[in-house]
Amino acid sequence: MSKKKRIVIANWKSHPESLVKARKIFSGIKHGVSRIRRTRVVICPPALFLTELMNSYGGSGLVFGAQDVSVKEKGSHTGEVTATMLARSGVHYVIVGHSERRALGETDEVVAAKLKVSLKAGLTTVLCVGELERDSEARHLRFLEREIKHSLRGVSRNIIKRLIVAYEPIWAIGRRARDAMNAEELHRMTIFLRKTLSKIYGRKIALPIPIIYGGSVEPSNAETLLSVGMVGGFLVGHASLSPSDFTEIVKIVDKS
Ligand code: PGA
Repeated sequence: MSKKKRIVIANWKSHPESLVKARKIFSGIKHGVSRIRRTRVVICPPALFLTELMNSYGGSGLVFGAQDVSVKEKGSHTGEVTATMLARSGVHYVIVGHSERRALGETDEVVAAKLKVSLKAGLTTVLCVGELERDSEARHLRFLEREIKHSLRGVSRNIIKRLIVAYEPIWAIGRRARDAMNAEELHRMTIFLRKTLSKIYGRKIALPIPIIYGGSVEPSNAETLLSVGMVGGFLVGHASLSPSDFTEIVKIVDKS
């Protein structure tokens, strides 16, 4: 693990259904993590709520992220939000290649292009990777290696200072803590991911890239996943919509 600050990222996905509810969740989290100093806490609400929340809560110690970004750097592309727009609006992070976006047809090639525009715009960019299922012949390892290599194709070492890799096995997403990844296995996977990154960028450059975990992280499994799994933090989905659960996860990370 690098000496970088640990990080907990809230991925609200397409919840909640109104700004009023979004404000309520945000206020709860803000209050809960107000004494947190050692851990970076990032909130990724739906894009529509980003500026509203940033305007009301900017300077609260929390930073904001987007859940996706346009593959296009600029130009006329109806419906797209560019990395530059995000960066200039005060957004610091962006999630790229989440499995739920890949399921909508996002290819590794598109993911690589999004990584490039985001990193160039100065956004800390969270690349999500993860296998759909596991098997005893370790095909999931080959899948992962290929997914990482292809997603990072053309992403030069000069721009990866702000890259984070989120390992999110698809089979563990959106379930309960007991269905999440086993912590010992997570440790093996972080070593495997680190080796794969080393093959691409060389050990010295790969070593500081934070590797975080996502997939049914809840207060009950956060401590073990962190200490045994040896990850640099979490990408939290459903539990990030509950201010008390999310705050507890952040406190566990901050104490570790
Ligand atoms: P989950 O989602 O915590 O609900 O499993 C994680 C994610 O998809 O980022």
